[in-house]
Amino acid sequence: MALFALPNIIQDLIPAASESITPWNWNLNASGLYEYLPTMHALSKFALLGACAVQSVMGLPESVERREANLLKRSVDDWINKETPIAWQKLLCNIGPDGCAVRGQGVPAGVVVASPSRSDPDYFYTWTRDAALVYKGLADAFRRNYTEDLHTQLKNFVSSQAKLQGVGNPAGGLNDGQGLGEPKFMVDLKEFTGEWGRPQRDGPPLRAIALIRYAKWLVENGHKAVANAQVWPTIENDLKYSAQYWNQTGFDLWEEVPGSSFFTIASTHRALVEGAQLGAVLGKPTRAYTAVAPQVLCFQQSFWNAREGFVVSNINGGEWRRGRDANSILVAIHNFDPSAGCDANTFQPCSDKALSNHKVVVDSFRSIYGINRGIAQNKAVAVGRYSEDVFYNGNPWFLATFAAAEQIYDALLVWKAQRSITITQTSLAFFRDHVSGATVGTHAAGSTTYNQIVSALTAYADGFIEVASKYAHSNGALNEQIDRNTGQPIAAPDLTWSYSAFLTATARRDGYIPTGWGAGQATALPAGQCQKFEVAGNYNLPPTPVFPSSLKPAANAPVEQVTAVPTGCTNPEKVFVTFNERASTSWGQSIKVVGNVPELGSWDVNKAIPLSASKYTSGDPLWSITLPIQAGSNVQYKYIRITNGVAGVSWESGDNRGFSVPSATCDIQNRWDNWR
Ligand code: NOJ
Ligand code: NOJ
Repeated sequence: MALFALPNIIQDLIPAASESITPWNWNLNASGLYEYLPTMHALSKFALLGACAVQSVMGLPESVERREANLLKRSVDDWINKETPIAWQKLLCNIGPDGCAVRGQGVPAGVVVASPSRSDPDYFYTWTRDAALVYKGLADAFRRNYTEDLHTQLKNFVSSQAKLQGVGNPAGGLNDGQGLGEPKFMVDLKEFTGEWGRPQRDGPPLRAIALIRYAKWLVENGHKAVANAQVWPTIENDLKYSAQYWNQTGFDLWEEVPGSSFFTIASTHRALVEGAQLGAVLGKPTRAYTAVAPQVLCFQQSFWNAREGFVVSNINGGEWRRGRDANSILVAIHNFDPSAGCDANTFQPCSDKALSNHKVVVDSFRSIYGINRGIAQNKAVAVGRYSEDVFYNGNPWFLATFAAAEQIYDALLVWKAQRSITITQTSLAFFRDHVSGATVGTHAAGSTTYNQIVSALTAYADGFIEVASKYAHSNGALNEQIDRNTGQPIAAPDLTWSYSAFLTATARRDGYIPTGWGAGQATALPAGQCQKFEVAGNYNLPPTPVFPSSLKPAANAPVEQVTAVPTGCTNPEKVFVTFNERASTSWGQSIKVVGNVPELGSWDVNKAIPLSASKYTSGDPLWSITLPIQAGSNVQYKYIRITNGVAGVSWESGDNRGFSVPSATCDIQNRWDNWR
């Protein structure tokens, strides 16, 4: 796409870009009180003036806070109006092959460059996470407003990622899926061989989510066969990775802490649920995803610090940090789905836990940055990754500051739809910062408390946008960071993710809610203790996608809706068997299982199934893996110990082990074995 084409795209995508984008305004409700309501932005300035006029006609006193809020709103509106086309243009500039910042530099179609900067810092790479989050936003914008140009971008993304999955790299290959956990690649899709924090296990689920968004559009517009043949193979590898490696540690999204990251776990949960939802419509096996998803959600709960009311973003590693981290705010916005209401298990933006967490995380940045000093507790501040950050001396980040706004906009959307706000003991402190008299209970739309909260939080959210606007370049360019003392935009210039974060936050402010991911059907925790079984996947190189030229939006209403998440146990003839083997191993060794049935590699050691060491401790050297085997099979198997690739295989001694798989059942069968 050439640069001269950009203004068109921008106009198509954001018809209101040149108008006022002001989603909320005061309206008189039935009880004569003012409340904010979403309206068409083109009308809102008039509505706002209208409301003020009504106010003065009626002689109501305009409170100082309300006057301040209106001024804030107008200045934020103005900046958003200017910034929106710039953000679109600059975001697309970083995508190959024709983006204005990367054109002619060997960047294939659909590849997102993190930032055009080639030194200090060198961000001229493609990160799976950045690319997926950016394309998730693009896919949502596309679903909202079809354009040919954006459609081309999405198809390019599918093609680039199908290819990328096959690129062997230091994290591994596609054979056992491990290579999917590689965090970054050269912009021409070659492997990056330098040292790095790898693997990063959020990449595959995030990419699945972005691709699923587009695949759903295909289904809903009558192109199911295309979703099936061209997009699903890539999605499926990422889902299998998510179901297989979710309980293994890896580096967090900031690429620094090896351990379990809240963001990675929550992204995995969403991908498995949304993947099962799409898979069911496409007629694919989904049981691995539906079986694992509730266990992932179960684990997700363990990051909560109930005493202090926040999510400890990294566990099983990184505990030297206090755990307050924008990681968790990103979960709230990226797993937003109003079908789950204010559910706390899935960490919905308006849940009591996510609101309490918002306060604790934002507060952790109030005193540490020079630019935040002296700002009142109920006012927005610049937000960073986590307070102990030392990267470029540790600074606020644009994307984290936008995310803080986005969570509040999301919450407001749900409360307005529900017509009530519930305050619990957990969220009380958050609300009291903004409405000092707030009390525990449910406050219906129209009540004084409801109105006070809505207006105070609207202004609070706008405040984060205002903070970002204050430190952006005057030409609208956004870097990665904001100098903590001078407020200068610093570190990676034109960070693609910064523009994306601006666009998603302001889309929510604008009242736009992306299609859900089935969260409302996936809030339940499994009974009893969390189980941490990991399902072995078989991975296949996706065929090169070929998109028919006839791919257009359906002329009429959507053809088929993708809404139901399969529940219970599908395909019970594939019986899930967990192989548990106790085998003490030394560093560099691993255990696999191989056997007579095709699911166990038909005695071919090259096709043996790797067991996971995620439950291995020095006191209990447990290796395990779960996999589906045809009901009724007579299974013979043995474990093998791998020392240096398959060249160094050693077999267990003695006879083959054996058992019969029962007839179709939904119960997981356990084999308990000891190395011999
Ligand atoms: C580069 C990573 O991208 C960044 O997240 C990290 O903070 C620095 N390396 C320092 O480890
Ligand atoms: C550093 C960030 O910590 C990481 O999340 C991101 O993927 C890279 N920079 C590239 O933007």
